[in-house]
Amino acid sequence: MEQRTDKRLTDAEIEKFIEDNVKSLREKLTGKKVLCALSGGVDSAVTATLIHKAAPDSLICVFIDHGLMRLHEPEKIMKVYKEERKMNIIKVDAAKRFLSALRHVSEPERKRKIMGEEFIRVLEAEAKKLGAMDYMAQGTIYADLLESGSVKGGKHIKTHHNVAIPQNVEFKEIIEPLKTLYKDEVRRVGVALGLPNNMVYRQPFPGPGLGVRTLGEITGPKLDTLRAADSIFRDEIEAAKLDGEIWQYFAILTDARSTGIRDGARAYAYTVALRAVNTVDAITADFARIPYDVLASASARIVNEVPNVHRVVYDITTKPPATIEWE
Ligand code: XMP
Repeated sequence: MEQRTDKRLTDAEIEKFIEDNVKSLREKLTGKKVLCALSGGVDSAVTATLIHKAAPDSLICVFIDHGLMRLHEPEKIMKVYKEERKMNIIKVDAAKRFLSALRHVSEPERKRKIMGEEFIRVLEAEAKKLGAMDYMAQGTIYADLLESGSVKGGKHIKTHHNVAIPQNVEFKEIIEPLKTLYKDEVRRVGVALGLPNNMVYRQPFPGPGLGVRTLGEITGPKLDTLRAADSIFRDEIEAAKLDGEIWQYFAILTDARSTGIRDGARAYAYTVALRAVNTVDAITADFARIPYDVLASASARIVNEVPNVHRVVYDITTKPPATIEWE
């Protein structure tokens, strides 16, 4: 593929991109079956929506709920795709399977590897149930091709493994309708297709989700604790109208317990860490200078409302040396 300049498409070109792709996808996919794995992320959402506009009866979406999503996120995803957009989407409840594969594992790389492998196994099992597919759709975007060295003049930075391709499932071809677009253009296509802003302008959320934010062994109760704390932190950032200003913000459940006093007695409970960063490209990042009052209300609410947490800390490290995620 030819390299693009930094020049972005105009609004008219975005409209034309949609029109041309709907036309060609319709020709290609009508009467065929295409499988698209949805992650809740922007790229797969826009890919599925574009295909749905072109050939609604051909599209089968699979959403794997690995139990590592944020509070109410799986319900929201189903509401948007299934109820509002009437897409053919299958939700796979794989939380138990993920948790059992992760039992007694606390080494970060090992955890990541297990989560990646489970994802692909679940997708394979689901694809198998669905029978022969003509196509697989993938939300590859231009940056993925650049980083994987698939563009002339581009450099190999990392292996592109945004969406896993099942091994034992036959299909003719992978379709990647967004592969010529920059991320901001993908968002503009999403808006033009009528996707809600909170889906299109969603912060980056890693594939392994809260799995990389739950330190040590991942358990159901620890995930519930983190979900509750994370939701409060996000609420408080939004209430302070800082959500448009901070690039990415979330909570981490550390594996550290410390002393505190609950109901007049000494107790040990978890420490929650809050992380909020500003960055241009996620390669380097600085911690956000959140006003103390906002941190104070988030901290007070977390220790009052979330059982088993009685200490909250704010991460004040830059990247490098610290990565944005804790694992
Ligand atoms: P780090 O932690 O490497 O993160 O500083 C940089 C950005 O990438 C996101 N991130 C991921 N995104 N799959 C993803 O799709 C992953 O496994 C993953 N790990 C980190 C992270 O949230 C941050 O925005």
